[in-house]
Amino acid sequence: MAEEKPRQFVGKTEFKKGLEGAITNESSISYVDGANGKLIYRGFSIDDLCAGGGGFEETAYLLIDGELPTKAQLGAFSKDLAGRRAIPQEVKDLIIMIGSRTHPMNTLRTAVSVLGCLNTKEFEVNVENDLDIAMSLTAQFPTVAAAIQRVRNGQSILDPDPSLGHSEDFMRMMTGEAADPRTAEVMDMALIIHAEHGMNASTFSAMVTNSSLTDMYSSICAGIGSLKGPLHGGANEATLNTFLEIEDPAKTDEWFAAAKEKKQKVMGFGHRVYKAYDPRAVIFDPIANEFAERAGSGHLHEIAKKLEALVVADLGGKGIFPNVDFFSGVIYNAMGIDTDMFTPIFAVARIAGWSARILEYLPENRLFRPRAVYVGDLESNYTPIDQR
Ligand code: ACO
Repeated sequence: MAEEKPRQFVGKTEFKKGLEGAITNESSISYVDGANGKLIYRGFSIDDLCAGGGGFEETAYLLIDGELPTKAQLGAFSKDLAGRRAIPQEVKDLIIMIGSRTHPMNTLRTAVSVLGCLNTKEFEVNVENDLDIAMSLTAQFPTVAAAIQRVRNGQSILDPDPSLGHSEDFMRMMTGEAADPRTAEVMDMALIIHAEHGMNASTFSAMVTNSSLTDMYSSICAGIGSLKGPLHGGANEATLNTFLEIEDPAKTDEWFAAAKEKKQKVMGFGHRVYKAYDPRAVIFDPIANEFAERAGSGHLHEIAKKLEALVVADLGGKGIFPNVDFFSGVIYNAMGIDTDMFTPIFAVARIAGWSARILEYLPENRLFRPRAVYVGDLESNYTPIDQR
């Protein structure tokens, strides 16, 4: 039997890959009830927030400020956001230069970096200044994302219309047309349910970065980079590609059998915290059906339902159920949005959660600095390079 290597810093530390179950801090922003499939923002269920009519602006206020706004507070907050929606010419030029050549998440990340470079105020890192940046980025994300979608389709960038609500203007800037009321309502709902979700990978990345007391733009760039990955926000794009690959509902069984054979994970299923149905997928399922029927892409929702039945029958016992990314793509696809724009839409919503978490942690900030269990050698003999 091989001799066990000496290990540094084993102690009584419990080690779980991927920091599973590790606690990072205390927070009162959102609660993911994984066993019961519930998502709560500051005490309020996402179902109530979606149905309440206050829109993304109300949810953003709630997450960042901590309380539901009064009518007057919501009016002032919405006006403030709308007034910050415009983006500088340099950012438009950047999008024109690189927008068609790279993934939209790369362009979004670079645009945030450029916005940071263009902000020439001497910023001390504190809650007041970071809140100012958070408000501007929350307002500008839809403008940047819409501009990326248009440039990639050979269309001109549209300036914001501050008389419109956040989601309505986002849709208008993307498509060039006023969204019908139901589309605007569903986009608003999508932004509400994607706005915040506990200590997920992108939020943690943003918080870790911010904990060195760097500037907020750098922290948000880290969040965007993490969200892009297919195990996290990028799964919405990957999921729709799966449906397109399956193509015909009748081929779903065959596709799943092949995926199982290859031990391939099925995108849009599973979650570190939810071991029940993700409540966001529950909200999206009937809407995906409605929008797909309306757009003539009903087969995509049919494929989704067949795949759901197969995966849940096979893996439901292990707590594998559809997550938020499973049905969202069918809806965005029916709205005419390009598949690789799905994750930027996620970011348009999640900027509120990233901001709220960063602002909550800042007053009690302590640098995030975990350790790894060292399993390498400790006493290797150095051989000079000419003798190796
Ligand atoms: N398809 C098939 N099997 C799965 C899936 C899946 N989508 N997800 C997890 N499993 C299985 C694993 O193979 C593993 O099985 P094993 O114990 O027999 O080896 C077990 O379930 C645990 O899986 P892990 O990957 O260890 O679970 P973890 O908590 O690390 O991962 C994650 C969670 C990344 C979301 C995972 O479920 C996954 O990769 N899903 C597909 C990608 C996806 O949809 N991501 C979006 C998540 S929601 C969001 O971030 C917005």
